[in-house]
Order: sequence, then C-alpha cells, then structure tokens
Amino acid sequence: MSLDNMRDLYQQVILERYKKPRNKGKTDPADRYQKGHNPSCGDTIELTLKINGDRIEDVKFEGEGCAIAISSADLMAEALRGRTLTEAAEMVQRFQSMMKGEAEFPQEFRKLNAMRGVAQFPVRIKCANLSWHTLKAAIENSTPQPVGFVTNE
Ligand code: FES
Repeated sequence: MSLDNMRDLYQQVILERYKKPRNKGKTDPADRYQKGHNPSCGDTIELTLKINGDRIEDVKFEGEGCAIAISSADLMAEALRGRTLTEAAEMVQRFQSMMKGEAEFPQEFRKLNAMRGVAQFPVRIKCANLSWHTLKAAIENSTPQPVGFVTNE
C-alpha cells in the first residue's frame, strides 16, 4: 500500500471513530474514574474502567474533544478490554513513544497505529495523548475517586 493510501485509510479511521465512537459512556461499576484535561484547548475527558482482579473488563469515556482526541480515546478503550493493568501501562508508554515517531503497535493492536500520523503534527500530539495520559493516572490511582484533572503537559 502506498504511503498516500495509508494516510487516507488512517484519516478515514479517525473520522469514522469521531463521528460514531463505540465506547462512549460510563462503565458499571466504575472501579477507576479519572478526568483528564488538555490545557492547550480546554477539552476534557472522563475515563471509567471496570476491573476484575488485575484485568480490565470494560473501558468507557465521555467528554469533549477534537476528532483526534475522540478517535484516540475510542481506539484506546477498545484495545484495553481484556488487558491487565500492567499491560495497559506498557501500552501507555508505547503510545507515547509512537507520538515521538519512535514506535508502533504490533499486529494485535494495529488499529492503534491509525494515530501514528499525528506524530508529524506536534500541536496535535496532546490531543492524541489526552486519553492515554488520563489512563495512566487511572492505572496509578487504585480508588474509584478521581485525583482531580490530570493535564497532558
Ligand atoms: Fe482539544 Fe484536540 S483540540 S483535544
């Protein structure tokens, strides 16, 4: 597939997820709950996780954001289902490396690579990172109470 075709495909994925996100709402129960904030634009996201033992059973999000932020949150939620908290923390690191152009996800998580092109637009990286940053805080805070807004600065 040519680079242009790949770029078109990724843009399609981003727009489709933005228009029809599949993972909006709140998990029941919300074993983890975290709010994230992008100070560059004021957009926020609320992330909830349903956990069983060390495993993430469900992930949902609510909030406002641009196409990149919403599609990133939606793809993230899908990829996390069934993963352990440790695996989720590794995925946060990998995503952040991908935003620096230094990594991508293996075949199993290839849908997340739709966000790879954002690395070329430094001002949009915070949009893509918003949900992942929020997830990191949700993993680190083992109570269902948010620690306030985390920012992705
Ligand atoms: Fe606000 Fe992208 S412009 S998250």
